Amino acid sequence: MTDYDGVNLELHRAHSARMYDYFLGGITNFAADREAAGKAKAVMPWIETTARINRAFMHRSTRALAEAGIDQFLDIGTGIPTSPNLHEIAQRVNPAAKVVYADNDPIVLAHAKALLIGTTEGRTSYVQADVTDPAALLASAELRETLDFSRPIALSLNALLHFVPDELGTYGIVELFKGALVSGSALAMTHVTSDFAPGEIARLVDIYQSAGTALQSRSEQEFTRFFAGWDLVAPGVVPTQRWRPDSAKAAAASDIESSVYAAVALKP
Ligand SMILES: C[S@@+](CC[C@H](N)C(=O)[O-])C[C@H]1O[C@@H](n2cnc3c(N)ncnc32)[C@H](O)[C@@H]1O
Repeated sequence: MTDYDGVNLELHRAHSARMYDYFLGGITNFAADREAAGKAKAVMPWIETTARINRAFMHRSTRALAEAGIDQFLDIGTGIPTSPNLHEIAQRVNPAAKVVYADNDPIVLAHAKALLIGTTEGRTSYVQADVTDPAALLASAELRETLDFSRPIALSLNALLHFVPDELGTYGIVELFKGALVSGSALAMTHVTSDFAPGEIARLVDIYQSAGTALQSRSEQEFTRFFAGWDLVAPGVVPTQRWRPDSAKAAAASDIESSVYAAVALKP
């Protein structure tokens, strides 16, 4: 076992955060991550585009929410920092924006401590927590000290819930988070789907399972159910590259290359 700053990084096994980092062209990945990522790339040769346009949705949706006046963000399943990170986007629009990141992977914590430093006017903090334990996450001191739950908060769950299979009660988990937020809050989410490339995604699921990470794709209808009772903003549920693309290049990918749904909804 290799330790870094007291954190067991489990370098012998692939981690989803480090595989995603590899797909994004990052350098925070190791042999086991690259081996599993290589297998994924062999079945889905466009997977780096999938990762890149998923990340670009986070940029656009965060900017849109900050421009709409939301100044508090809770990002669960943050991933290894890849600039621009969510706090950089939000604090570029509003330097006073407050951001809390949460992830259950210790390597994300190790890097977040070093890299996720926000503006002096705003505040950026980090919680090591598991989305499957909403009560613990919502009770965390860092979260409560940084965000004011009596005011709107944008919750982002990007490329996260496909790692939470139905048997863990995924819909109930999301409802608990939604219930903790006041009217005017937002939910931004992306999620792997097999609606466009069923064969490739089935093989991708097998590769992640073999590497020790549960992965469940969800259909458009299953994805849409996460937003129940909230108002989807235009353009509704779409593959990532079709959510308010800001350039011809951003919109250029195909639905197969995305294979990830995206949406933003507001709490009435
Ligand atoms: C594919 S990355 C997504 C990163 C970022 N949200 C984005 O979309 O660019 C998924 C992240 O979710 C984290 N994750 C997976 N399962 C989790 C769980 N049960 N609780 C919290 N984080 C989790 C992983 O550690 C990883 O950092």
